[in-house]
Amino acid sequence: MAFGRRLATSVSAAAAVAILAIFVFLLLNPSRKHLGWVRDSAADLVLRNATIYTSDASIPFAEAMAVRNGRILRVGSDASVQDLIGERTREMNLEGKVVLPGFIDSHVHLIFGGLQIGHLKLHGTKSKEDFVMKIEAAVKDKILGEWVFGGGWNNDIWGGELPAASWIDDITSDNPVCLTRMDGHMSLVNSLALKIAGITNSSLDPFGGKIYKTINGEPTGLLIDSAMKLVHTVIPEVSANDRRKALIKASNYALMKGVTTVVDMGRYFPGAPVDNSWQDLSDVYKWADSSGKMLIRVCLFFPLQTWLRLSDLFKDKGRSLSQWIYIGGVKAFADGSLGSNSALFHEPYEDDPHNYGLQVSNFDWLLNATLASDKAGLQVAVHAIGDKANDMVLDLFSSVKSVNEDIDHRFRIEHAQHLVPKATSRFGAQGVIASVQPDHILDDAIFAEIKIGKNRAQRGSYLFRSLLIGGAKLAFGSDWPVADIDPLRSIKTAMTRIPPGEETAWIPNESIELDDALNAYTIGAAYGCFMEKEIGSLSAGKYADFVILPASTWEELKTSLPSSVSATFVNGMQAYP
Ligand SMILES: *[C@@H]1O[C@H](CO)[C@@H](O)[C@H](O)[C@H]1NC(C)=O
Ligand SMILES: *[C@@H]1O[C@H](CO)[C@@H](O)[C@H](O)[C@H]1NC(C)=O
Ligand SMILES: *[C@@H]1O[C@H](CO)[C@@H](O)[C@H](O)[C@H]1NC(C)=O
Ligand SMILES: *[C@@H]1O[C@H](CO)[C@@H](O)[C@H](O)[C@H]1NC(C)=O
Repeated sequence: MAFGRRLATSVSAAAAVAILAIFVFLLLNPSRKHLGWVRDSAADLVLRNATIYTSDASIPFAEAMAVRNGRILRVGSDASVQDLIGERTREMNLEGKVVLPGFIDSHVHLIFGGLQIGHLKLHGTKSKEDFVMKIEAAVKDKILGEWVFGGGWNNDIWGGELPAASWIDDITSDNPVCLTRMDGHMSLVNSLALKIAGITNSSLDPFGGKIYKTINGEPTGLLIDSAMKLVHTVIPEVSANDRRKALIKASNYALMKGVTTVVDMGRYFPGAPVDNSWQDLSDVYKWADSSGKMLIRVCLFFPLQTWLRLSDLFKDKGRSLSQWIYIGGVKAFADGSLGSNSALFHEPYEDDPHNYGLQVSNFDWLLNATLASDKAGLQVAVHAIGDKANDMVLDLFSSVKSVNEDIDHRFRIEHAQHLVPKATSRFGAQGVIASVQPDHILDDAIFAEIKIGKNRAQRGSYLFRSLLIGGAKLAFGSDWPVADIDPLRSIKTAMTRIPPGEETAWIPNESIELDDALNAYTIGAAYGCFMEKEIGSLSAGKYADFVILPASTWEELKTSLPSSVSATFVNGMQAYP
């Protein structure tokens, strides 16, 4: 036995010497590449020779990044990641190409957008004739009684005249039609749809909405804000299967644009059924998560009306249901939109002198529900476009803050489009996130001046630089499908403010710098939805969500921002192309 033990001891001593020798050999070996199989700390992916903008203020630029198990292992110089390169490490020499954190779109209606990919597109429709022709073509493919959906029209493009059911009734007599204005706050329906919805001469405007009528008191077919609900309740429900397909289509589209996370605001107009977001959570998102079909991360907002239900879910599960699905908070509406003359202003519309816009929520209720949600730890986001709506919501947030102390509120105002000068510093002072959409400038630059007059428009529209100077945290987004999901275009718009076909900037002194714009689409957006510990910058420990651009230098990025990304990675894996 004693001999056996001695033999065992000397065998293990010999083994130890051999292992040590191998170790020393490996350590001294200049290439050290094979260390990967000795230590399991080797990276799955290493990017080298890149121009990495991290959105992390402590180390804004880097050359190299190492990734393991979907997370960032190290960011630094090429030399600093050398020891993380092992046998199975995929190495990418980017030859100077620019790498950015994956974009976070702070305001989308993801499944609705996915469904619209298959609908009639009326963007850029130039005239009444063009409008009628497109609808005639779309109706041809439909069977008797099938609904025709479309969206994206903008009457301002053809001089402002609002469309009416009478334009299309004779070509759509067999099919109900619902065509949403580009801002999502106004729909044109034909007479058959009015009939199905039971909207007649004697129908009254619902709270927070308007049924347009002729001077003779007959509905024209135009429905604003909550009046759209009258038609939406009679539209056959979209099947879970179609909504699932829409999620996948929408996610792939987002990835193509470099977007790796979206904040999904759910329903898109005041008065839309409050259950939609919950149905999407159970039928679509949970299905996609459990069957491995989530392609981008989503942070979900639910109608404020359902805060109690969300609060139960939040208590039970916390902020994340999985690495793909996050609970954002609750969303409400204060007013409508500029394009539909329903954004709420202190002064009346220039082109509609008795109209100040619409307040679409009861503010007593809004205050109560915000207090309760905030106390329950739910983030509260309120849609406000007109200057008066923004002031009212800032006042409301301030009241809630004085009651619920010691809470990291991060209240959000969605859009914050038109502000009185004093309001810009209130966002910073009160810590309210400005969730804004630069690309709306492209549509509004021309029309805002018609709607509210040149002075008011130039003094108070899309005040991104003033908001930053006032200390506000900006979170950029698109409001897709209202505007296209396209962070690179949005960033360019925020930097240049040049509308299509124009040569000069609209309110040039509100333009912002490239890094501020990038931050608003990355770390600012992540902070804006409580996700800054997981995403938003290329920092060790966060998810390896990033994009590669065709540009080679920071200078090139500043002067000619590329219009598309070359590749999008999620969890360190290539997701596009
Ligand atoms: C890094 O990329 C540049 C192109 O920007 C190339 O000229 C250089 O050879 C690359 N360096 C290495 C070590 O691959
Ligand atoms: C609605 O009003 C219009 C215009 O006054 C009128 O021609 C029409 O007959 C009315 N419809 C009904 C059902 O009363
Ligand atoms: C708001 O809360 C107060 C106090 O709890 C209550 O008296 C009031 O009825 C509530 N208002 C609405 C609109 O819910
Ligand atoms: C831009 O110019 C306007 C008009 O001169 C001024 O009121 C505003 O404060 C300026 N904004 C910034 C950010 O400098």
